[in-house]
Amino acid sequence: MKHMAMRKFPVSERVRVSNSEVASPRSCTKEAGIVVITAVCVLTAIFTTFVVATSPIDPIPLVLPRHTIPWVRENRKLECVEKLGEGLVLGPEDVVVARDGSLVVATRDGWVKKVWPRNGTVENWKRVGGYPCGLALGVHGEILVADPLQGLLNVTDDDEVRCITSTAEGTPITFPDSVTVSGKGQIYFTDASTKHLLHFWHLDVLESRPHGRVLNFDPTTGRTTVLMKGLAFANGIALSPTEDFLVVCESWKYRCVRYWLEGEFKGTLETFIDNLPGLPDNIHLHAPSQTFWLGLVGGRSWLTDLTLKSALLKHFFAKFWHHVTPFNFERGELIAINLHGQVIVSYQDPRGARFSFATGAVIQDNYLYIGSLTEPFLGRLNLDLQECT
Ligand SMILES: *[C@@H]1O[C@H](CO)[C@@H](O)[C@H](O)[C@H]1NC(C)=O
Ligand SMILES: *[C@@H]1O[C@H](CO)[C@@H](O)[C@H](O)[C@H]1NC(C)=O
Repeated sequence: MKHMAMRKFPVSERVRVSNSEVASPRSCTKEAGIVVITAVCVLTAIFTTFVVATSPIDPIPLVLPRHTIPWVRENRKLECVEKLGEGLVLGPEDVVVARDGSLVVATRDGWVKKVWPRNGTVENWKRVGGYPCGLALGVHGEILVADPLQGLLNVTDDDEVRCITSTAEGTPITFPDSVTVSGKGQIYFTDASTKHLLHFWHLDVLESRPHGRVLNFDPTTGRTTVLMKGLAFANGIALSPTEDFLVVCESWKYRCVRYWLEGEFKGTLETFIDNLPGLPDNIHLHAPSQTFWLGLVGGRSWLTDLTLKSALLKHFFAKFWHHVTPFNFERGELIAINLHGQVIVSYQDPRGARFSFATGAVIQDNYLYIGSLTEPFLGRLNLDLQECT
């Protein structure tokens, strides 16, 4: 307010002096007002034309189911996390439990590391390079890594890191993101977008054109086939306890779908859970409790919904994303979902006070181990803990 008042005064003063002989001060102020408004309109039009003409996306407006706030009661349970391996595991996007009981994480510096839960020691296990994202435990005890820059990788105690596949039915796999394995060794993984690459993932969100796929690598034939396509940024993927369906999370539709692999509805897709309060990321099954654990990133708000609805705002944010974004990436939230797609618990850190950008979690020995794309540690939460100490 102070600034505006100060700036306004000298302008009208100057106008009044120069036009003092021809018009009354009041009409001059009016004319000056019209000039200013016209200038603002012209500049806005030029700016808008520039933004649209140079925008990197070709967006379509996306109207989502109405977001209900509060979605589940806000809490701060995620602020109770303990930090494991602080400074040694940078951006552990995903976490899985290995056969030896260690927690395997994929970090932003291109490593697959082991965090030992008893003593918190971090072991630099294998360097894979690239930008390892989703992880899964293979049937031979190997760690499968979805790397958007390299393909689907097989990491074992051997020195060599092998690429399992980087094409599907003759098309390149451009954005391997998350992976899950059946008891018989069938590998299901997501290819988040066939259009926008890793560092431009936000453009896929803003464009709202579905370029995501689910692929299946069959180890008996060595072939990779396309199971689903036209998904809205295919992110986390998990199998049901009896392996009769897959849950696949479509980030920018704020939902996860269920794809039937067996039974009456085999080959069909339906909504599993929608209208989520953040972009769904990695999802992992915890078989003993028959629950899926899902990380939600980029808190949803009226502004994100408005942005996804408006082509102009999409162009604007696509262009200036690195300076301004409508999403709240500070917020951390993890939810557990039952087999019917209902939320049973939510752990939140609304302002990212201790844990931001929670991308997924696994359970081991009554502890939840939580990954994040931005935190420099692996989070651990005692599931019995009621309050932070
Ligand atoms: C931590 O525990 C693991 C597994 O038991 C062990 O291999 C490792 O040497 C331990 N690290 C330290 C520093 O004690
Ligand atoms: C990963 O590599 C190991 C060791 O070579 C092998 O036994 C296993 O079958 C491989 N897994 C896949 C899915 O290719």
